[in-house]
Amino acid sequence: MAADDSALLQAAEAALRQAYARYSRFRVGAALLTAGGGLYRGCNVESIAFPVGQCAERNAIAAAVLEEGPSMRIARLLVTAEYRGQIAACTPCGACRQAIVEFGADATVLFRDAGGALLVRSAAELLPSSFGFGDKG
Ligand code: THU
Repeated sequence: MAADDSALLQAAEAALRQAYARYSRFRVGAALLTAGGGLYRGCNVESIAFPVGQCAERNAIAAAVLEEGPSMRIARLLVTAEYRGQIAACTPCGACRQAIVEFGADATVLFRDAGGALLVRSAAELLPSSFGFGDKG
């Protein structure tokens, strides 16, 4: 873990405590550091109409874009989760990977493995051959 990751971890854990995970009970917190130095958080917010629920990572991205605008770039993003009071493995889902790559193909992504350790990957590693508009992107 790099020096600034303890701030990210603390922010993601605080976000996780705000999760609205009424249906899955799987609480997720995400925190991201932007290229501009901003720190933004998100938690999962579920819905009784299940597909309407939103992931923690994309909520953090929305918070960052709201503050820094459309040129926001992700430098580092950390995601952590809890299920029944225990740290749970949580790697960003496919939709979140697409959203992360859009705002930071070079971003570093940290997430929990099954043993609770933080794994470190690049966004491009998590989503190789990601969708884009080619030269129109
Ligand atoms: N979830 C996230 O917040 N991020 C992910 O990357 C994976 C899944 C949420 C969605 C849902 O509220 C709960 O975890 C269980 O899928």
